[in-house]
Amino acid sequence: MKKVMVLLPLCCLLLWQACSDEKNGGSKPLNPNGDSELALLMRQMYDDGVRVKAQIEKGEQVDIQVDFEKIMAAKATDPVKMQPAEYPHFASSYVEAMQALRNAPAAEARERYTAMVATCMNCHENTCPGPMVRIKKLLL
Ligand code: HEC
Repeated sequence: MKKVMVLLPLCCLLLWQACSDEKNGGSKPLNPNGDSELALLMRQMYDDGVRVKAQIEKGEQVDIQVDFEKIMAAKATDPVKMQPAEYPHFASSYVEAMQALRNAPAAEARERYTAMVATCMNCHENTCPGPMVRIKKLLL
């Protein structure tokens, strides 16, 4: 527990630098070396979420286009962000939630979608809080 107390502020500082993307709206590269594979994937996941949300609101069959399974292997800007021991656990919860949503009958899509957005929030709360404001917009 003591170790966590020491490491937490350090991690927060590092995460804050790469994860506080709210100011530029995510459209420009956020670091001098360009955007990471993971950051680009995240934007696709977000955009796909916006589209799927609209489909659910219209009562249409959801159609997922983003290659969400890449989350297991994509590299982050800073490996520290993927360091928490929980990262793979959060990533696989998200993948499972997406699989369930992809195969959901229209009547269950809403519920599955909400559960999927919760997996985004869970991981972000623990690894990269900056984009949470934006992710909240995906909520129905
Ligand atoms: C397993 C953990 C995890 C899950 C699940 C997850 N994210 Fe992320 N997300 C991250 C990490 C780590 C970063 C930082 C990536 C980087 O800077 O390289 C990130 C970055 C982002 C960004 C900022 C990208 C940019 O422009 O730099 C957005 C937006 C985002 N995520 C949205 C989402 C959405 C929407 C979902 C669910 C559909 C989601 N995330 C699920 C870990 C996760």
